[in-house]
Amino acid sequence: MHPLTNIAVSAARRAGGIILQYYRRGETGNVERKSENDYVTEADKRAEAAIIDAIHHAYPDHAIRAEESGASGDSRTVWIIDPIDGTANFMRGLPHFCVSIGCQIDGKLEHAVIYDPVKDELFTADRSAGATLDGRRIRVSRTLRLRHALLATGFAYRKTGDIATYLPAFNRLLTASGDIRRGGSAALDLAYVACGRLDGYWELGLSPWDVAAGLLLVEAAGGIVSDPFGGDPLESGRIVAATPKIHQVLEQRVRKTPMRS
Ligand code: 2AM
Ligand code: CA
Repeated sequence: MHPLTNIAVSAARRAGGIILQYYRRGETGNVERKSENDYVTEADKRAEAAIIDAIHHAYPDHAIRAEESGASGDSRTVWIIDPIDGTANFMRGLPHFCVSIGCQIDGKLEHAVIYDPVKDELFTADRSAGATLDGRRIRVSRTLRLRHALLATGFAYRKTGDIATYLPAFNRLLTASGDIRRGGSAALDLAYVACGRLDGYWELGLSPWDVAAGLLLVEAAGGIVSDPFGGDPLESGRIVAATPKIHQVLEQRVRKTPMRS
């Protein structure tokens, strides 16, 4: 395993341990409201601090871009961190959330780790060496047709108020696909596309830390990721990710409605 991926794995496991302590006690610690329906818990903050600590212990100069503590440092290497993706699930005791850590070098995602502490599942990716789940190589699914595809989506678009773009696409895809899931963690949705549990995923209005690691996982597992409206999906937060045979048609169905200005 690449040394940077190795650091991300130990950081994610450490954060997972902290999160599980709260989860098993049925506690979140103090909760603060960032905006409507967007909360940060003591567990998020402690997990994020542990991840940054582990990275800086090994690489004191690397830059950080993290959900709760923001951006710091100036380096070719930037770690993009979401301590708990699926915080709303975590707060309710729904066992579907994860730690997400992506590593960008010279602006390109190179290494990624997604760790689900409840299921104890560890996803890793290196751009040059592919993607793994618990140490075994993973590939996207071989599904050929949208109408047989199991898709996932989410409603982060609510942040941008872009329901006029989202809902027509949801309508179309509900009819055109096999079925749709809504799990509440963008990072796990992307990891599940990477390992073939899902055939495709789309969402609008996400933040870089929700998707950085997952975007690389999908690509390293042979899938395709795009912003259906052009642009860089990591920064725009508009994501279509799928197995290659389905990506183009999924993207086209998401795009059909023009973006609201
Ligand atoms: P979170 O749990 O880290 O907040 C579900 O649709 C996805 O959207 C999750 O990955 C969730 O990440 C993210 N999400 C939830 N509320 C959000 C918000 N206000 N802004 C951006 N992303 C959000
Ligand atoms: Ca998140």
